[in-house]
Amino acid sequence: MDLQLHNRVIVVTGGSSGVGRALVEDLLLSGARVAACARDLDRLRASTASLSDSGHGDAADRLLVHGCDVRDADAVASFIEATVDRFGAIDGLVNNAGQSLMKRFDETAADEWMSEFELKFNGVLNPLTAARPHLAAGGAGAVVNINAVLARQPEPRLAATSAARAGLLNLTKTLSVDLAPEGIRVNSVLLGLIDTGQWRRRYDQRPDDDQRSWEEWSGDLAADRGITLGRLGVAREVSFVAAMLVSPRASYVTGTSIDVSGGVGRYV
Ligand SMILES: NC(=O)c1ccc[n+]([C@@H]2O[C@H](COP(=O)([O-])OP(=O)(O)OC[C@H]3O[C@@H](n4cnc5c(N)ncnc54)[C@H](OP(=O)(O)O)[C@@H]3O)[C@@H](O)[C@H]2O)c1
Repeated sequence: MDLQLHNRVIVVTGGSSGVGRALVEDLLLSGARVAACARDLDRLRASTASLSDSGHGDAADRLLVHGCDVRDADAVASFIEATVDRFGAIDGLVNNAGQSLMKRFDETAADEWMSEFELKFNGVLNPLTAARPHLAAGGAGAVVNINAVLARQPEPRLAATSAARAGLLNLTKTLSVDLAPEGIRVNSVLLGLIDTGQWRRRYDQRPDDDQRSWEEWSGDLAADRGITLGRLGVAREVSFVAAMLVSPRASYVTGTSIDVSGGVGRYV
């Protein structure tokens, strides 16, 4: 199926790893022009360098990489300005940059609550504020907020992240209403446990006496969390859904969310 992404300009935050990196590749393969950011520009450059190789056509000409922290409004404004300077428009924005805080309520310090809320909210509001006039100008803009099943199903081991995720899901619904008159659709993708940098870092930090392989460790994790499909997801299983939602093929989809979680959500 053609997602009609050819030549559309899509901004992806957090493009150097995991879901964001997979999405950059999917969008380039679909013929889109892509602007990606991350804090570590060298890592972003290195991780996207292979995309100019064969199989991706003229991808090098259709990819802009930029170093910026999504919590910094001025830096994000510069990123969006660079995108418009290079490509002349913005049709879609995927707010993906972020990480989670694996701490229970009693372990979470006051400043950690604030930094978690700052990342989850400003990490979306800064790119949206800067990109909004450009998304509206095209008449068919789309925003996708990468969120988590935690937004609906709080996980006590991720107390602040769960609360911040719930707030972002709620805000996304409001945005879908307020931005509709500008022709901008706003949706969420709710992730379960996806095999990316986040989980690999946790695996690397396991106790020295834990000799399990990644396969054993992640299999035990999937069983412990009751994932219906019995495994963690992979980034391409998320990027496909995000690409679909940001594409013109989803023109009648707004204010909703799609779980990509292998069935870990217990709600109906
Ligand atoms: N993997 C999961 O199981 C899971 C579950 C639920 C939700 N999520 C969410 O899905 C999104 C993608 O996660 P992932 O698993 O793909 O993570 P990942 O592999 O760790 O990649 C995160 C990306 O975001 C960038 N980033 C992080 N903080 C940033 C900031 N303040 N400003 C700009 N870029 C930033 C990182 O690059 P730099 O470090 O260089 O900035 C990197 O490119 C995140 O929002 C995450 O919270 C993931």
